[in-house]
Amino acid sequence: MEAFYSFAQLDYELLAGVADWGSALVRAHERRGGSGPLRLLDVACGSGRFPSTLLKRTDLSALEAPGVEYDLLDPSPFSLAEAAGHLRAPFAPAARYEATLEDLDPKAGPWDVVWATHALYALHPEALSAAAERFVSGLAPGGLGFLAQGARDSHYLTVYRAFLSGVRAGAGTPYLSGEAVADALRVAAEPLGWNVSRQVLEYEHIVGYDQTELLEGYLRRCLFDDGPTLEEMLAAPVLGPYLAGCRDDDAGAYRFSQAVVCLGLTARGEAFPWTAAS
Ligand SMILES: C[S@@+](CC[C@H](N)C(=O)[O-])C[C@H]1O[C@@H](n2cnc3c(N)ncnc32)[C@H](O)[C@@H]1O
Repeated sequence: MEAFYSFAQLDYELLAGVADWGSALVRAHERRGGSGPLRLLDVACGSGRFPSTLLKRTDLSALEAPGVEYDLLDPSPFSLAEAAGHLRAPFAPAARYEATLEDLDPKAGPWDVVWATHALYALHPEALSAAAERFVSGLAPGGLGFLAQGARDSHYLTVYRAFLSGVRAGAGTPYLSGEAVADALRVAAEPLGWNVSRQVLEYEHIVGYDQTELLEGYLRRCLFDDGPTLEEMLAAPVLGPYLAGCRDDDAGAYRFSQAVVCLGLTARGEAFPWTAAS
């Protein structure tokens, strides 16, 4: 786990820098009239890496007074409890929805902010349009929506496809791509007048050839399978050749290319607060 999270942390650090979150949340609060706490839904909250990284990296002091009513959604009660345990002021743990996004009660909400970060990989393709519709209809007028998810050709999705094909004989469902979720959100949001804007973050996870334990732990978490050894992964059909293609002999390291599709939803006439650096 630790091996993976040393890399996954980079994913969340970059998302913390992709927008000016402090002022974006303040603006969302102002747009609802400024009374009461900001209402936020974290879709597929997992272990709460995104909010815990924001709490470390972003100035959220302007939200201390109104506070943020931070609702969590995840089908896993373990994840709901873990994410709630990471929340600190101004994020105040509020409702917990033990549900998938596609099954979220349409009467729940609305929220001033809805976000889903590295969240919907396991969503079944046939549930995608219902999930996108629930995401968009959960947004209050003037609200802010944000999605971040690995792109089709990024390492997370490519290594999993190679694993299913080379080790699992094609059984299992490939992860859903950021492009697929972003397209479904666009289709659900644009007819309702939401402004949709998109950015792609590109970066690498780099592991030295000599860091074999780290590499094995990292790949196992990418594959959600603690079974295969590094030797087995390197020797497997499809997966082995993919991993060989990530080698950089000059650097003595594997370079795993990541690309993350980021989608922002804002009210008509409101620009999404992407930072200049993103
Ligand atoms: C990688 S984690 C999300 C990470 C998280 N956003 C963070 O900031 O740490 C993916 C989560 O999606 C949840 N999940 C799987 N299918 C889902 C669905 N259809 N709707 C909502 N959540 C789902 C899983 O239970 C898991 O906790």
